[in-house]
Amino acid sequence: MEKKIAVIRGDGIGPEIVAEAIKVLDAVCRRFGHTFTYDEVDMGGCAYDKWGDPLPPAMLEKCLASDSVLFGAIGGPKWNDLPGDKRPEKDLLRLRAGMGVYSNNRPAKIWPQLASASPLRPDTVARGIDFIIVRELIGGIYFGEHRTETVDGQAVATDVLVYSEKEIERIGRIGFETARKRRGKLTSVEKSNVLDSSRLWRSVMHRLAAEYPDVELSDMLVDNCAMQIVKDPSQFDVIVTENMFGDILSDEASMITGSIGMIPSSSLGDTSCGLYEPIHGSAPDIAGMDIANPIGTILAAAMMLRFSFDMPAEADAVENAVSAALTDGWRCADIMPESGAENCRKIGCREMGDRIAAYVEKGV
Ligand code: IPM
Ligand code: MG
Repeated sequence: MEKKIAVIRGDGIGPEIVAEAIKVLDAVCRRFGHTFTYDEVDMGGCAYDKWGDPLPPAMLEKCLASDSVLFGAIGGPKWNDLPGDKRPEKDLLRLRAGMGVYSNNRPAKIWPQLASASPLRPDTVARGIDFIIVRELIGGIYFGEHRTETVDGQAVATDVLVYSEKEIERIGRIGFETARKRRGKLTSVEKSNVLDSSRLWRSVMHRLAAEYPDVELSDMLVDNCAMQIVKDPSQFDVIVTENMFGDILSDEASMITGSIGMIPSSSLGDTSCGLYEPIHGSAPDIAGMDIANPIGTILAAAMMLRFSFDMPAEADAVENAVSAALTDGWRCADIMPESGAENCRKIGCREMGDRIAAYVEKGV
């Protein structure tokens, strides 16, 4: 098969981690006889420096014309003082909205080889951590009206949180469908004791539940959910939630699995052209040092193979290769046990990519 992948390397560690994911995708091509071509897209602070715009319209067009988009990370201190609408983060939102990818899937799964990297108590980890956060990605407070004005001589800032029934329903369905393919448990997370948008959220979820009798739906307030994720993560199968709650809970969920550097995400709308990225940011403090962990991005590429290209064997090959690298003790700095014990060896970003690509090619 031939596929055209739009590649956004971005800022900070973005170029380093994306290079390793491409190495692994090329190994997939060699092993399975596919041809992937890469269309470079300038986005983020680097695009602002080059074009005066962090996401020039022609770049968004390239993404829309691709079979899927592989995204590294954008932003950094150099661009922090740009006005709100010029900040690279804002353009990630423009990209997500422009691609119509309303459904963001963030798995929180502990790799058995990394069980000791979890900050949770061993008996809690032993009960199992394997859930998915389905986050609404192009609505809510991120996309409501934003303004800062002067009222009675002082600055007043407003961010509006809006959800329509339709927006809630389409992400709700993804939540139910995802749960149906797993252990059949869906937790709808909101703040209905305070927010109108959450009360609407809850009522739409309950209406949909009638159509999915095989899925067990429960409601949970977001503050309680934050607590339950560290108290007993084994209770969760699929969490469905709105944009900002999903942003916050997915960082928390990643940390209990050992490191945010390991977690990929997929974002899809109504077409097969998806956006695939690690959930971590551009980590400018470690950029260019060859110490970033490329596994989150490599696993995002595996999700692209599975969800957008319908290549389950190829996706399995990448995930098995990551697993083999971990089993053989290869660790980037973020997942290296402090004791140095456990037969682990610390390697850099490039070497991790080389090793995983080699496992893909030889088949493990
Ligand atoms: C994420 C990030 C982004 C978000 C930022 C960079 C805009 O934190 O993907 O979780 O808040 O969605
Ligand atoms: Mg985030």
